[in-house]
Amino acid sequence: MRTQVAIVGAGPAGLTLAMLLHRENIDCVVLEARDRAYVEERVRAGLLEQNTVDLLRELGVSERLDQEGLEHNGIYLRHDGGNHYIDMAALTGRHITIYGQQEVVKDLTNALLENGVPVHFEVNNVALHDIDAPTPWITYEHDGQDHELTCDAIAGCDGFHGVSRRTIASHITEFEYVYPFGWLGILAEASPATDELIYAWHEDGFALYTMRSQTVSRLYLQVPADEAIENWPDERIWAALRTRLGHVNDGDIFDKGITPMRSFVAEPMQHGRLFLAGDSAHIVPPTGAKGLNLAVNDVRLLAPALTTLIENGDTTRADGYTASALRRVWRAQDFSNYMTQLLHDLGEGPFQSQLQLARLDYIARSEAAAHSLAENYVGLPAEPEF
Ligand code: FAD
Ligand code: PHB
Repeated sequence: MRTQVAIVGAGPAGLTLAMLLHRENIDCVVLEARDRAYVEERVRAGLLEQNTVDLLRELGVSERLDQEGLEHNGIYLRHDGGNHYIDMAALTGRHITIYGQQEVVKDLTNALLENGVPVHFEVNNVALHDIDAPTPWITYEHDGQDHELTCDAIAGCDGFHGVSRRTIASHITEFEYVYPFGWLGILAEASPATDELIYAWHEDGFALYTMRSQTVSRLYLQVPADEAIENWPDERIWAALRTRLGHVNDGDIFDKGITPMRSFVAEPMQHGRLFLAGDSAHIVPPTGAKGLNLAVNDVRLLAPALTTLIENGDTTRADGYTASALRRVWRAQDFSNYMTQLLHDLGEGPFQSQLQLARLDYIARSEAAAHSLAENYVGLPAEPEF
């Protein structure tokens, strides 16, 4: 089999790239290890930057997003029992939208299949070959049969644990910081008791109040990195949320999980004809809500680079991909680390806690400080490609 771009992974990065390439009349095939239901139900991110929403609109996949997405104008920062509102729309003229990642994934998958772009689920043993050559190829198993797919370029959109980055491990430098805590996240049948997200500093640890709709709340609690979910029966979760967030509406918990937190960057994001995008190249702690948005930004840059590579054999844009993508990646790394250090119990004692409270007080009192936080949170305007 032959295609122009083989895309490994049907998460936000791979699916958005497939839509962007399809728009440019570039053939592609998406190979995904999991089954469709699993990918479409996997609960993860929920906060879309305006840049991300704009791109999904441009791609014609925003019908449901426009109806069901919740437009937010700011966030509350909570400490010492009080909420301070950061009016991001007033400070930046931009806003954010709450819409579940799995809904984005469903909308993109439907649009691709309707447009005849192949997305193969339950593909096993993906291996990448000859990525230094002009026509690399991929072997994999699907429906009990062995397959070979030859292409002009491979997009490694297969997340942090995928095969793509491993394939070029000897050519990349990895930068990593692993936090000694994680997030316990729940989804509950409960109407949110807040109009906007609440990011809470508390001496017991961080908590976040977010939502998916008028009837579904999403809440997170800082827990130790190696915490077992069995230690957190529902009553303990609600009690901790009330302590850290104040008033919380409770309801049936229908999803519960613990996510470890890390900061990670692989450089460069390209070797030969293999290009990494999204979580396969970088991970941020979720406090800044940047992971999905960075994945979408990567492919916004990658699609035109691959298009010129394939149409004219011109490698200039492809060669510039790493530098242009990493500029936003490192900005988001700094912001995500800043938000994490600002709000979590770092286990470093009362001196660090007092510094955190002084920073929160500064944000509440200084428009310059609030503005800096806001412009990073809503996302700086998308840079021109290169
Ligand atoms: P993924 O979504 O991981 O997709 C990769 C795909 O590749 C998967 O479907 C996987 O099954 C597949 N795959 C893996 N290996 C192979 C293989 N060998 N062969 C074929 N397929 C393979 N980000 C935000 O922007 N805002 C938020 O509010 C936010 N909150 C978050 C909250 C939590 C609790 C978590 C865990 C993450 C959050 N994120 C957030 C991060 C966001 O979910 C990720 O950054 C995003 O999923 C990255 O998309 P991706 O397409 O790069 O990778
Ligand atoms: C979410 O809605 O899941 C969400 C929102 C903001 C974050 C992280 C997660 O910072």
